[in-house]
Amino acid sequence: MNMSTLKESLPESAENNDRVKELKAFEETKSGVKGLVDSGISKIPKIFIRPHDELANESNHVRSNIQVPIIDLRGFKTDDDHRKKIINDLKQASKDCGFFQVLNHGIPLSVLDGMIDGIRRFHEQDAEIKKEFYSRDRIKKVKYASNIDLYRSSAANWRDTLTISLLVSDRVEPDELPEVCRSSTIEYIDQVTKLGELLFELLAEALDLKREHLVAMGCGGGRTFVCHYYPACPEPELTMGTSKHTDPAFLTILLQDQIGGLQVLKNNQWIDVQPLAGSLVVNIGDLLQIISNDEFKSAEHRVVANRVGPRISTACFFTGIVVPPKIYGPIEELITEENPPIYKDFTVSDYISKFFSKAIDKSSLDDFKLQV
Ligand code: OGA
Ligand code: NI
Repeated sequence: MNMSTLKESLPESAENNDRVKELKAFEETKSGVKGLVDSGISKIPKIFIRPHDELANESNHVRSNIQVPIIDLRGFKTDDDHRKKIINDLKQASKDCGFFQVLNHGIPLSVLDGMIDGIRRFHEQDAEIKKEFYSRDRIKKVKYASNIDLYRSSAANWRDTLTISLLVSDRVEPDELPEVCRSSTIEYIDQVTKLGELLFELLAEALDLKREHLVAMGCGGGRTFVCHYYPACPEPELTMGTSKHTDPAFLTILLQDQIGGLQVLKNNQWIDVQPLAGSLVVNIGDLLQIISNDEFKSAEHRVVANRVGPRISTACFFTGIVVPPKIYGPIEELITEENPPIYKDFTVSDYISKFFSKAIDKSSLDDFKLQV
């Protein structure tokens, strides 16, 4: 190393040290972003400010008023023609931007509203009770933390998250769940699990596979619920609610409240996924992109920070079977001479470990590509 590089790197590492110290101090409060807001700050701490080049690049993206497709599931059981149309719409949306909203999905509005209220109650409860759930232990089924990639990202996000993991065990006992949101969460988990199975059936048909193909592969098996709380932000243009990323799952069903802020990237334009009362947002994740051999797209998306809040959302990631380890890879029926496999076989644990070794804005898809 020559002296000039050494000199240049010193101030940067000193700055890094400061950053790590600030991150640790923030972590030790166990009060998350909500704790900062409650303390009355009017400027956001440095650890949340996005790097210069990212902020400068923001203006290169054109804002678009295109909408993601809205798919009405009403009548899919009784009306064969309507079922065909739904499958065709799902296919288009999954190939095109990988995002859509579903209406008449069968989950009562009271269950959706109950879930959002419960998550609000969790994050807004007595700080001392909430602290007991604060953890980054990957094994823990129920935990709360701010920023899953706190120590790996270049800037922290303006968001706290309660995570409920049904990856290893299929059941969560009621008394493992926080009391303030117990019954609403149990009901929601149950209903979303069933909706997931239905969507996997329709998506299998959209891939021209047998209806039960994806369910039989266990795609609806493991689930992780990430229940986000995005407090109002005094300087939203300097930070993000959630950095751009793709989801490390087969499929995601997302419940959002009416505040807005979720955006999906399409042709280099950020499209707002506008809140639609009673609807659920569905998006294709990395694992479905892989097993569909790129037929379906796992699109990049993000959540902008907002002066108005809190915003509440819950994503259910369908992650597939983790235990006992199951090998997944591009589906044989979809492979032809003209369409050779693009990806290696993998286990869900391999994929998730890769995801957790990076900042969320670094996709893992390329790591699972076969060398060409
Ligand atoms: C996620 C996600 C979006 C939202 O948790 O992966 O993209 O609206 N969430 O909170
Ligand atoms: Ni996501």
